[in-house]
Amino acid sequence: PRTGVVIVAAGSGTRLGAGQPKAFVPVAGVPMLERALWSFVGLPGEWELAIVVPEGFEDEARQLAERAFGEYESSRMTLHLCLGGESRQASVREGLRCLSEQCDVILVHDAARCMASSALIERVAGAVRATHAGVIPALPVVDTIKRVRTNPSGSESIEETVSRTPLRAVQTPQGFPAAALRRAYEMAAEEYTDDAAIVSACGYQVSTIPGEGDAFKITTPADLRRAEQHVESFAP
Ligand code: C5P
Repeated sequence: PRTGVVIVAAGSGTRLGAGQPKAFVPVAGVPMLERALWSFVGLPGEWELAIVVPEGFEDEARQLAERAFGEYESSRMTLHLCLGGESRQASVREGLRCLSEQCDVILVHDAARCMASSALIERVAGAVRATHAGVIPALPVVDTIKRVRTNPSGSESIEETVSRTPLRAVQTPQGFPAAALRRAYEMAAEEYTDDAAIVSACGYQVSTIPGEGDAFKITTPADLRRAEQHVESFAP
């Protein structure tokens, strides 16, 4: 069996404000996308990766993928580079087009979650194979959650406190049987914020496994600092 992976790295990174696409912004000296690829190096089994990048960043992506995979690439890792679209969903769709029909399971992963571990990737792929259904990493919500009403003046009033017990904050990689993911993307008629929502909307089963703190998404400058501190805490 071969596991396909779509790594989406074609976002603009407006909220990070680094003046370049987010996945190419360095985290302690190494581009986010390159760090994200590190977690796929040395995994057991056969893999096929579609790296989805913004126009004009193909060469840089090729170089950093070569640095990340080196000789490992030729043997058990097949790489594709493709161009992203206007939305994350459009970018994933492009990535799916690049992956061969040999992949029976496909994971979709945000380059912006560049600290997600190899162990998490393996757990997701393993759980998809074991259950023949979609699997996503999820963590309990730690903050208290309020539903608010926006007033005409722009201020907000609290309407209610939502019970957080049944709520989960979900991460990537999200894994699915390839046929279900492909079918769900063909059927998707609106924009969703994650792949599990697209697959669920098509009527397929998706379940959760425990996520990991390290798989947080880098969105703001504060997230970038958190990631850099994390890297430095492992430095010799
Ligand atoms: O913007 P956000 O951080 O939520 O994006 C999540 C992931 O989707 C990022 O890795 C980003 O590069 C990717 N993305 C993309 N194409 C877009 C928008 C986002 O590949 N048009």
